Amino acid sequence: MSAVRSRPWAPLIGFFMAQISDSVSNLFDAIEMEMDRMIRVNLAGEQAAVDILKSQIASTDPSAIESLQNLHHMLDQEMCHLNYFQDQIRRHNYRPTILSPVWRVVANGVGFVTAKFGLHAVGSVIDGIEDTIEHHYRSQIKNCQYWMS
Ligand SMILES: [Fe+2]
Repeated sequence: MSAVRSRPWAPLIGFFMAQISDSVSNLFDAIEMEMDRMIRVNLAGEQAAVDILKSQIASTDPSAIESLQNLHHMLDQEMCHLNYFQDQIRRHNYRPTILSPVWRVVANGVGFVTAKFGLHAVGSVIDGIEDTIEHHYRSQIKNCQYWMS
């Protein structure tokens, strides 16, 4: 006589396991989509910062040596940020924003116009951008902390 054990709860366990698996899968999909969006936005922001600074450098009076040195220093930093996000886009196969060409034209225009208004305008725009970016990254950090809690 075979000893077949009855397991009436087995289908229930299977059902709950499938639900948990779907939930985890959906959670990972949602995180992946959010990461894609965040990296794409960050890449666009860093590209804009680089374009603004390059345009400001090209349009600033060459005799403003100290200001140009500061702008070049900031450009070096922004290039590091841009390279980081370009690397993330490649590594994770995320897609850059389709608005990138428009965004870059606007950024170059902002850099050119502010440089034509003088060093005070250049500094004000850079300060404003830095504040916005800092707020943006803090918001992203808060979102990541929320996911992890
Ligand atoms: Fe940056």
